[in-house]
Amino acid sequence: MLDSPRGSGHELLDESLQGAPVVVASQPTHTRKLYLESYGCQMNYSDSEIVVSILDAAGFATTRNEEEADLILLNTCAIRENAEQRVRGRLRQFKSAKAERPHLVVGVLGCMAERLKESLLEQEKLVDLVVGPDAYRDLPNLVEQVNGGQKAVNVLLSREETYAEISPVRLDTNGVTAFISIMRGCDNMCSFCVVPFTRGRERSRDPGSIVREAHELYAAGYREVTLLGQNVDSYKWNLDIKGQVKDPDQPVVRFAELMELVAQVNPDLRIRFSTSHPKDMTDDVLHVMAKYENLCKYVHLPVQSGNSEVLKRMNRGYTREWYMDRMAAIRRIMPDCAISTDIMTGFCGETEEEHAETLSLLSEVRYEMAYMFKYSERPRTLAERKFENDIPEDVKSRRLQEIMTLQRVHGTERTLAQKGKTYKVLIEGTSKKRDDQFFGRNTYNTVVVFPKEDAKPGTYVNVKTLSCTVATLIGEITQDKADA
Ligand code: SAH
Ligand code: SF4
Ligand code: F3S
Repeated sequence: MLDSPRGSGHELLDESLQGAPVVVASQPTHTRKLYLESYGCQMNYSDSEIVVSILDAAGFATTRNEEEADLILLNTCAIRENAEQRVRGRLRQFKSAKAERPHLVVGVLGCMAERLKESLLEQEKLVDLVVGPDAYRDLPNLVEQVNGGQKAVNVLLSREETYAEISPVRLDTNGVTAFISIMRGCDNMCSFCVVPFTRGRERSRDPGSIVREAHELYAAGYREVTLLGQNVDSYKWNLDIKGQVKDPDQPVVRFAELMELVAQVNPDLRIRFSTSHPKDMTDDVLHVMAKYENLCKYVHLPVQSGNSEVLKRMNRGYTREWYMDRMAAIRRIMPDCAISTDIMTGFCGETEEEHAETLSLLSEVRYEMAYMFKYSERPRTLAERKFENDIPEDVKSRRLQEIMTLQRVHGTERTLAQKGKTYKVLIEGTSKKRDDQFFGRNTYNTVVVFPKEDAKPGTYVNVKTLSCTVATLIGEITQDKADA
């Protein structure tokens, strides 16, 4: 897939993937063509695979060429204002296409569809179809409705929908790594966040269907799966909201048990997960990670801010001390585990002192990697209703710059510390920069590039690392034993 850092449940930052169209082979029975672009987090990319599966059954083949499409869908993100601006810009580009091809149907899916609902039809006159994340089963009907001359909207959120039994059509796949959605929605109500409004209530998917999907992927040659959810630590099956067992004849499965079940699918299947929440990440999950070699030693644990008062305003449910205790637990149980995070600058009322505490937390933890953002106010959120978005844009930018500069130092330091070691690497494909080289990842999610020799994607090789750039290790295949 990509030779760039991966493994967190938020907006994919790789520009080459953002908005990339998807392609699967067309079949003769498929008379209409779908062009689909995805934006936002891995969950959206995973949902797009469900959407293609549903539309495939309704006779749509996918195309990479928007000019030959009968149906154009954008699976959108609403997490920050600029995510929405990009989609609006893209929709405007379809205007002339629609003027030339009146039969063309243009639809908006995903979080922006859910947030803006019918108003998307009015605002952007070129949208025919608006479908929220829990209504994809209805897509074939809705497309027919549009073909019949109407506009169509379904933004109903569900308390049950997990698309559990729908086999996703793997898109733009490298045949080696895949996503498995294990839950949907989020019940956390962090004050800055739009996700609870766009994705609805948290619900967990049947563990049987998750394990089955992992087996199928393994049988198809895949060697790594990433379990996805907005807060994977609160995965629960057969428990109600109050924690009472629903069916005494069925087992209770929490995230630690689920990880163990997936780890046992095959020792050659690597497992990653995203995203963990600091308030819910328990030691039992860490112990399971330590127990199985194929559970990758990498945790993405978004901190957002290093100041407890800011965290309180964010409604994150933990303090700096609690977060640092979780860091200590990770290091105690898996001393070599890689850790990454998400950070936001310029949240409502953030003082220079509070910002300085984020910098000091960064220095204390020394993350392998961080995704860093400027706070963007989102309509309907608690923060929008309760607080003033009072940090000027230039201050937000300066603070962002400061944390990025510091993080770059730590990231480089961490990559350098891995140089010279030998790693077990899962080969994902040919390096983007050099045809004669492969890229893959070690357990810590660090990208490793090396000459191909006669190795093959989807297999493990030991790579001795000889040099590095800021975030990439460069090495060669060796018969030596791996350090990790
Ligand atoms: N469920 C994950 C995060 C999903 S959103 C978690 O709780 O960690 C991914 C990241 O986007 C968040 O961690 C946060 O850093 C950022 N983000 C969310 N809302 C934002 C907003 N309104 N403005 C800027 N960044 C935001
Ligand atoms: Fe948003 Fe918080 Fe839920 Fe993450 S845990 S999706 S930041 S509300
Ligand atoms: Fe993901 Fe963006 Fe929605 S981050 S959950 S696609 S708002």
